[in-house]
Amino acid sequence: MRLNKYLADCGVGSRRACDKLIEDGCVTINGKVATLGCTVEKDDHVAVNGKRATIQRKITYIMFHKPKGCVTTVKDEHGRKTVMDFIDLKTRLYPIGRLDYDTEGLLLMTNDGDMANKLTHPSNEVPKTYVARISGALTLAEKAQLENGVVVDGKKTAPAKVAILEKDEHHTRVEITITEGRNRQIKKMFECVGKEVEFLKRVAIAEIRLGGLQRGKYRFLSEREIDYLKNL
Ligand code: URA
Repeated sequence: MRLNKYLADCGVGSRRACDKLIEDGCVTINGKVATLGCTVEKDDHVAVNGKRATIQRKITYIMFHKPKGCVTTVKDEHGRKTVMDFIDLKTRLYPIGRLDYDTEGLLLMTNDGDMANKLTHPSNEVPKTYVARISGALTLAEKAQLENGVVVDGKKTAPAKVAILEKDEHHTRVEITITEGRNRQIKKMFECVGKEVEFLKRVAIAEIRLGGLQRGKYRFLSEREIDYLKNL
């Protein structure tokens, strides 16, 4: 098995996060520093920063309602609160994708490396739906611009779906679905049409919806939800 998949299945992090650990020289196989592309054979001793990494047999999937004011990483180098502080499970899970410090809403977490990879890989174009409150009124022309694509960090965004939910003189509440997952994408898209995002919440990933789950709480995904994600 490839080393990055092995590490992800051990619950160390997503495959990409594991690649970074391998590149940084934090991973050893039988005492030798591993490189990208290494494979793991049965009975190999794999360690991350000197600590043995073993495959956990129990594959777990949860949804978490991330509140504002925590980071979506397993550990934060600045000592800030992380999403892990809310999860009291023995099985080591890691977040699938990211939400900003000040964004709330649906975060899926697992120790299934394949699933994490599938849901975050750009080529799979998994839709993610957000509710945003933005400053000012969004015109129909601006809505169309967002739907057709705006240039963010030098690259046009993929087509998005936008619905205006509510508006008054000062704010507009919008539901927006995107199929990419670029850094701060929603905020940057609205910046392109001169609007500031004041509040942002992810409400769905494909057909998996946050529903009434309370902020800061998590629940296990149902068999049906897991099957749905596996067949996505
Ligand atoms: N887009 C953003 O700007 N922030 C998030 O947290 C998620 C999507």
